[in-house]
Amino acid sequence: MAYQIKTIGVLTSGGDAPGMNAAIRAVTRAALSNNMQVKGIYRGYKGLIDGEVASFTSENVSGIIQRGGTILKTARCDEFRTPEGRKKAYETVVKEGIDALITIGGDGTFTGARLFSQEFDMPVIGLPGTIDNDLWGTDATIGYDTSLNTIMSCVDKIRDTATSHERIFLVEVMGRDAGFLTLNAAIASGSEAAVIPERATVLEQLEVAIGHGIRKSKNSSIVLVQEHAVEGGVAAVERIIKENNPHYEVRSTILGHLQRGGAPTAQDRILASRMGYAAIQALLEEQRSVMIGIQKNEICYVPLSKAIHEKKDVKQDSWQALQILAI
Ligand code: F6P
Repeated sequence: MAYQIKTIGVLTSGGDAPGMNAAIRAVTRAALSNNMQVKGIYRGYKGLIDGEVASFTSENVSGIIQRGGTILKTARCDEFRTPEGRKKAYETVVKEGIDALITIGGDGTFTGARLFSQEFDMPVIGLPGTIDNDLWGTDATIGYDTSLNTIMSCVDKIRDTATSHERIFLVEVMGRDAGFLTLNAAIASGSEAAVIPERATVLEQLEVAIGHGIRKSKNSSIVLVQEHAVEGGVAAVERIIKENNPHYEVRSTILGHLQRGGAPTAQDRILASRMGYAAIQALLEEQRSVMIGIQKNEICYVPLSKAIHEKKDVKQDSWQALQILAI
């Protein structure tokens, strides 16, 4: 092997996602079983800059597979965006004898990871950990399935009151710039429509939504609205509906951070475990700057540059299915 890896560092960064703990556990145990030492880095890149590092044994990751959040804590770190910040982080890497980094997070995490790998000629493997599922090259990200299930069960509850009162309910869903959570939660919960950044204008989408619900024999409607699809969020959408249809009773709910919490689903635990194991395999195969992805249920390696820069679109058949099934 050109570059013998004796010690790996693992960190979680950006928004937490259910299943991150399962990934930390898998990375740690797969590394230990290959006689590598493991350093847990707390608070993401901030902890790497500040030297918040601890040696991990198998016990450090006991009893965590079922827990949401991340035992390593997480942060969004502006300092790591600067060359000076990354230099400080590298000083910690040298001090701790870390030969390779495993970073678990989303595109912000990978942007930093890629620069760090280039600047200091260091192997860095990314695990996609974000509820948004917005990374190119992987069918699913760790945390997405759990979040989808959480949103679905919230909308099921909202449906009870929506039908009882014969109201339109707008439900704001997270996703940053992507509509995967919104669209698929809408399908899973039988919502009348989804307003997502990837498709048609808001007014057109609302017209369809209202057409599907109120005008066609149903007397209530649920519309999922992606958090950044409309400036002003659900409050703005509520205003638009009321201006055009003053006779409708409209209520809005913002699901917020409850979408990021809770015990990971079996699917997320399995995905995180497979990806964590694969991250160590990737290092043994001398991969340097890749994300572990899953495509058609097979693990794959995706260059970090592609995972970050290529755009993943929502599935057109899912979009059409929602329109048809909501009639
Ligand atoms: O990327 C995960 C995510 O939950 C997005 O869906 C959301 O836009 C963002 O993080 C919220 O970030 P914060 O918790 O820092 O407000």
